[in-house]
Amino acid sequence: PIAVRVNDLLGRMTLDEKIGQTNQRSVAVGMHDLGGWVPQFEQGHIGSIMNVSSPQVADSIQRIMLNKSRLGIPVLIARDVIHGYKTIFPIPLGQAATFNPDIARKGARVAATEASSDGIRWTFAPMLDIARDARWGRIAEGCGEDPYLTGQMGQAMVEGFQGGLAGDPTSLAACAKHFVAYGAAEGGRDYNSTFVPERVLRQTYLPPFRQAIDAGALTIMASFNDNDGIPVSANRHLLTDILRGEWKFPGFVVSDCFAVRELISHGVAADAADASRQTMNAGLDMEMETGHYLETMRGLIENGHVSEARLDSAVAAILYVKFAMGLFEDPFVHTPQSVKYSAEHLAAAKEAALQSAILLKNENNTLPLKPNRINRILLTGPLADARYDQLGTWIFDGEKEHTVTLRHGLDELCRKKGIAMDFVESLKYTRHDNPSGIDAAVTAARNADAIVVAVGEEAIFSGEGHCMASLNLVGRQSELVERLSATGKPVVMVVMAGRPLTIKPEIDRSAAVLYAFHPGTMGGPALADLLLGVTSPSGKTPVTFPLTTGQVPIYYNHNNTGRPANGTEIGLDGIPEDAGNTFLGCTSYYLDAGHKPMYPFGYGLSYGYFEYSDLKLSAGEYGKDQTIKARITVANNGTMDATETVQLYVRDHVASVTRPVKELKQFRRVPLRKGEKQTIEFELPVSELSYIGADLRPRIDSGDFTLFIGGNSETTLSAIFSIK
Ligand code: IFM
Repeated sequence: PIAVRVNDLLGRMTLDEKIGQTNQRSVAVGMHDLGGWVPQFEQGHIGSIMNVSSPQVADSIQRIMLNKSRLGIPVLIARDVIHGYKTIFPIPLGQAATFNPDIARKGARVAATEASSDGIRWTFAPMLDIARDARWGRIAEGCGEDPYLTGQMGQAMVEGFQGGLAGDPTSLAACAKHFVAYGAAEGGRDYNSTFVPERVLRQTYLPPFRQAIDAGALTIMASFNDNDGIPVSANRHLLTDILRGEWKFPGFVVSDCFAVRELISHGVAADAADASRQTMNAGLDMEMETGHYLETMRGLIENGHVSEARLDSAVAAILYVKFAMGLFEDPFVHTPQSVKYSAEHLAAAKEAALQSAILLKNENNTLPLKPNRINRILLTGPLADARYDQLGTWIFDGEKEHTVTLRHGLDELCRKKGIAMDFVESLKYTRHDNPSGIDAAVTAARNADAIVVAVGEEAIFSGEGHCMASLNLVGRQSELVERLSATGKPVVMVVMAGRPLTIKPEIDRSAAVLYAFHPGTMGGPALADLLLGVTSPSGKTPVTFPLTTGQVPIYYNHNNTGRPANGTEIGLDGIPEDAGNTFLGCTSYYLDAGHKPMYPFGYGLSYGYFEYSDLKLSAGEYGKDQTIKARITVANNGTMDATETVQLYVRDHVASVTRPVKELKQFRRVPLRKGEKQTIEFELPVSELSYIGADLRPRIDSGDFTLFIGGNSETTLSAIFSIK
């Protein structure tokens, strides 16, 4: 058993060897020479190294560890492998739009296989931060606003990254991050403070982490933010009482980069020793990057500020992970280089991109572009041939040379279908205030039967530290869409971005809109298939798309409030000229933007046409240990085969605390041929209706609930049941 091996080893370690295990350092990206690091490895001063990405370097480090360090403890070689290593999958937010955990599992497996071929055995993923403010750049890296969807996708990613673990040389230890509430950064500005009370933490932010740990995630990363005044890296209640005490987490907690030192900037630690003391005592086991644990821990222990027992528990957790991965038996690289960009991996990336694109609008069935109606297409826009930007944020290793852009994907498919395609480069960089190519695109549009314009955000606009105060299209992109639309030719807008953008004016000017997020290496061929109707779009919005930036934070599972908007609200136009400051209404909304988003959570069209009917429950009343069975008939009454994501939501009518107007409880992707009808059955244990009460404990109250089923979170098809 691992525990016996851990205790045996721990008993033989010196204090300095133990401290060494808690130290994670980073080498220069692509380092091929171990240089000055060799003595540190030999003396056992490093527990983990990050950013090695060469099989030779990885193997030589492990050889030093096994043969030259006193106890032969392998290091964990880490890297941010977020949505692909070489073969890049859609950004995680795009993967979430598939509502398909199998896609996430496969994506993580492909990433792990490729990364392990370069010696990497630990990734800092999946990111499970609930994000309800699209200004936050890291919304791109997570699965959106909903804890259930995030939990399902996160669990699949953990399973995919970790594979078979011990004995599986392609396994990567997963790291569920950032624990916790980091996505609630005030104002959507990265690293900012959060103010999430414990009840909401337990209700909304913690569950995806619990699910990842239950799925076996071996590590957790503490988040940068201070929540309610306490930096999470120094929060004993979160890192010890909840993670260890309540959840029995057996793996280890790593800090974020420089986060221990940042306690000084937060203003809660006087110096490095103080920061090390506080974080180690709180339950942070491994320190990333600064070396502060290595420098200060011996003194802290000798002075009694940290107990050796606490250090032992940190080291035991780190050793546990190394044993669980089988690194003591064999830490060497066995995955062949040929896995990188293999045909199987590229096919999986294409499938992920296909399923992640969301059809937001399709006026007059503009899409798919059919050869009998369309002879010539114009492709233009800054994201049409963007080999780097199509990959999205957090790409350390994906090479843009391997990206198949929309230009190349569409060109190839058009040739096969006998459609002519013109490509005109316009607005080389989305952010530049230079209208280059707009005139040429407008001229070319006159000869086309349809225009495909690819707009959005460069990859650098999202990801860590890259937040936006406005969600509108930047630069001259709006003008490009407007000028193209003025030609009278149907405009199909393809959007590649790291977040939902507020593009209502541009959507209004387009006949059809396909939202692709950043679709990865194979985004081009996938989008071509969707545009030309080889496959129907099936993505659904994993976050609410706001109408305007001023609506954020906005999310479907909000509380009702005492004065919910009810549709009778007047806008600015409705205010009489002589209104003065007389009574205008009293519900929760914006005078200039109402209360509705541009698109609700779970929304997405397809080339099929889905109709829902006959929602039936197995009973009208259930006991607390029973299971609700709900049946619904879904028919594809359109003219093309398509896949619908059927979503089940529940609303609790009366509870001891305020509850969301709706909560996603289950979903299922259902492929339906044209004309096909299927009855779908969901089984929902009543226990899943529990919520966190004011006493911070889960509870289920007797009373009435509404169960909704439909194709997005605004569905009204419903049935009422009660819990006795
Ligand atoms: O893994 C990341 C984390 O998400 C943000 N800061 C840096 C870490 C290591 O690169």
